[in-house]
Amino acid sequence: MTIDQDSRPIVLDETFFDDPEALYRELRVDRPVARAVAPTGMTFWIVSRYDDARPALNDPRLSKDAARIPEVIARSGDDAPPPRAFAESLVAHMLNADPPDHTRLRKLVGKAFTMRAIARLRPRIEQLAGELADSMAAAGPSVDLLDEFAFPLPMTVICEILGVPQERREEFRDWSNTLLSGASDEERGAAAGAMAQFLSQLVADKAANPGDDMLSDIVRASEDGDTLSPGETTAMAFLLLVAGHETTVNLIGNGMLALLRHPDQMARLRADPDLIPGAVEEFLRYDGPVNLATFRFTTEPVEIAGTTIPKGEFVLVSLIGANHDPDRYADAEQLDVERDASGHLAFGYGIHHCLGAPLARLEGEIAFRTLLDRFPDIALDGEPGSFRMSTLIHGLTRLPVRI
Ligand code: HEM
Repeated sequence: MTIDQDSRPIVLDETFFDDPEALYRELRVDRPVARAVAPTGMTFWIVSRYDDARPALNDPRLSKDAARIPEVIARSGDDAPPPRAFAESLVAHMLNADPPDHTRLRKLVGKAFTMRAIARLRPRIEQLAGELADSMAAAGPSVDLLDEFAFPLPMTVICEILGVPQERREEFRDWSNTLLSGASDEERGAAAGAMAQFLSQLVADKAANPGDDMLSDIVRASEDGDTLSPGETTAMAFLLLVAGHETTVNLIGNGMLALLRHPDQMARLRADPDLIPGAVEEFLRYDGPVNLATFRFTTEPVEIAGTTIPKGEFVLVSLIGANHDPDRYADAEQLDVERDASGHLAFGYGIHHCLGAPLARLEGEIAFRTLLDRFPDIALDGEPGSFRMSTLIHGLTRLPVRI
């Protein structure tokens, strides 16, 4: 990664994905709104200060709906923004929509994800976490924490909520991985195609054989009139499945890595497990699962921190940069499980604030309680893998531990 003093874009490479904060530390001071180019060749603007990031996440001039902006569509030929790289039936979801479509889509599933509705899942999530810890103990002493625990927990939970057959989850993980990593356009296209086919088959199965699950409810809503188009139904399933596991796996993975590297903090949590819910907020702030938020597009020239971003440009808000801003958090580089981490932007902010935050928090709390309780001697087993090459997902490729 190099910072050019002229206006040439910053080139993001592996060193950036492994330690994004190293770049944001400089950008917050020198170029709080900076042009960058990703390994895919795509160029965009990065917003890295907390006080700029928060309003940007909720700025109606920064649209989520690429179809609204001809300049964005015109660019799709050369640098492949999301609409082209993803199959059509996967893009029509709430995270790619502005009001009123966003409001309509979010309302449809909003009730199922409230804190109260999610709290009812606690016993089942505890049971699953316990079973995974059992099989981890049986597979030990050396295991990959991601494969054995951090991935299957949220994946199983979201599959059970939606009513997705368990057998397909490994396949789904591979496609999802390909889509969100620095794979070639061709590979991403193939993964998106496979996923779209899998999901439309699933939607057809739910229409033929409705069950007591959320996907059946969504399909029913789409049949009951004009609430949802067929494309929106598949895209909703796609968003919930991907968002439901790609992120929480890394809350558990990045959080455990932080604890394994700070044994004093781990000891504090073991001594007082009531600190765990607050510690989860600190893990989200300290090394959150989302690096740069999803794409936003300028519908008009937008000035941020003295820089005017022209119309039709991509803007990526750095959640990691904002969460490490020393103007917002004292000793921001320090992990402190007892700090007040509230106000962090790991779940975004504004109308697109993470729908699944109550679920992610509950899964995180249960995961850390279970792991700390069941594995008193857990330690790193060699070096962890590198971080995935994704501007969106900040997560490890492997986390080898000895239990
Ligand atoms: C949106 C982070 C877990 C579903 C978001 C956004 C962030 C985020 C940053 C906003 C992106 C933006 O504005 O560009 C996280 C993190 C998680 C997590 C860090 C885990 C620790 C989940 C889970 C679900 C979920 C478990 C379950 C279904 C969604 C949905 C949206 C969203 C549907 C779109 C909301 C909208 O557009 O209104 N998430 N998420 N997320 N998340 Fe999560």
